[in-house]
Amino acid sequence: MHLTKEEEHILDGKLGEGYARMMKILVKIGEIYGAEKLIPIKSAQISGVSYNTIGEYGLHFLRSLKGVKVSVPTTLNPLGFDSEHLSEMSVDEKFYKKQMEIIKAYLDMGIKPTATCTPYYYDNIPSFGDHIAWAESSAVIYANSIIGARTNREGAITALASAVIGKTPLYGLHLNENRHATHIIRTDFELKPVDFPLLGIHIGKIIDSGIPYFRIKGTQDDLKLLGAALAASGSIAMYHVENITPEWQNALIDKVEIINVGREDIEEHSDTVDGELYAIGCPHASPSELRIIAEFLKDKKIKKDAKLWIFTSKSVKREHQELVKIIENAGGVVFADTCVVVSNAGKIFSKIVTTSGKAKVYLQKKKFGGAKVIVVDIHTLLRSVVE
Ligand code: F3S
Repeated sequence: MHLTKEEEHILDGKLGEGYARMMKILVKIGEIYGAEKLIPIKSAQISGVSYNTIGEYGLHFLRSLKGVKVSVPTTLNPLGFDSEHLSEMSVDEKFYKKQMEIIKAYLDMGIKPTATCTPYYYDNIPSFGDHIAWAESSAVIYANSIIGARTNREGAITALASAVIGKTPLYGLHLNENRHATHIIRTDFELKPVDFPLLGIHIGKIIDSGIPYFRIKGTQDDLKLLGAALAASGSIAMYHVENITPEWQNALIDKVEIINVGREDIEEHSDTVDGELYAIGCPHASPSELRIIAEFLKDKKIKKDAKLWIFTSKSVKREHQELVKIIENAGGVVFADTCVVVSNAGKIFSKIVTTSGKAKVYLQKKKFGGAKVIVVDIHTLLRSVVE
């Protein structure tokens, strides 16, 4: 891979050991994927923030980077709790301390004090064609597909290396030729809101790391749920939707495989939507989702034996305080900075109702608590949680 003089200097340790290690990571990745050079990025999004996910090993790695700073606007994924709601989330002292140490390490690097998987609403907004280095699979697929920015599916460490160096190797989804569809998804039925996350789970399992092309109609929130599920059940980092996503007209260039999907392939067979926890906001709730919830809950009360937990970013919460108030008056809780998967929620509740296919994929795993998870649309969820 060709390196500029300045990049060689960093690699040789002229800026110090920490920067050299970050550069080494990018060069190694570039060599593995046959990148011809590094290109500048506009922003980075870092995953691996919750102590539940990175553990002692990750914390040790962050400690070793003391003095290293990021060089582009960088945001963080959700952490293990909302510090304003510690008691609801069974946070013990050890977990609290470790989590705070992780956050301090990131903030010392110059990363923005925001922890969300939807930075694209307020905190870190890419434009069409921007090269970025994002980890967090739901944000990667949103950025590539809905915004038309360009990022590979970075890991926690490669995204951090890119944030520090301000560059990423030129390969994969940064190149036009790798952004074409590999599969056409033929659905012989009109999609209802609940079908988007369920279709995402189904297609992710079948095509794993391809680029699906859909002929469907949905809102941005529907497509956000579709993308997050595609990225969670498979390794998909981009999709196209005819007439909707920004690059659909250039999508069908290569030979593609056709996948037929019938309603019976994705339908959930649950006769009940009874849960202990009703969770919305995986990915973090958008302003429009918050509005739907608040409008529904006006003058209503949450059932005594159930919990309604909404997860969103600090910025969405701050900008829409009137909606948050309505939700809280009805008995719901709006959490910021954390999420249903990376907090202890999966260990506290054994039956969870959610709008998210991604939450279903993760929460059913033993590591995240192994809860029974039912996916429904937002209105069904809300109807089920009120008195
Ligand atoms: Fe976001 Fe957590 Fe879901 S990071 S996509 S809310 S698992």
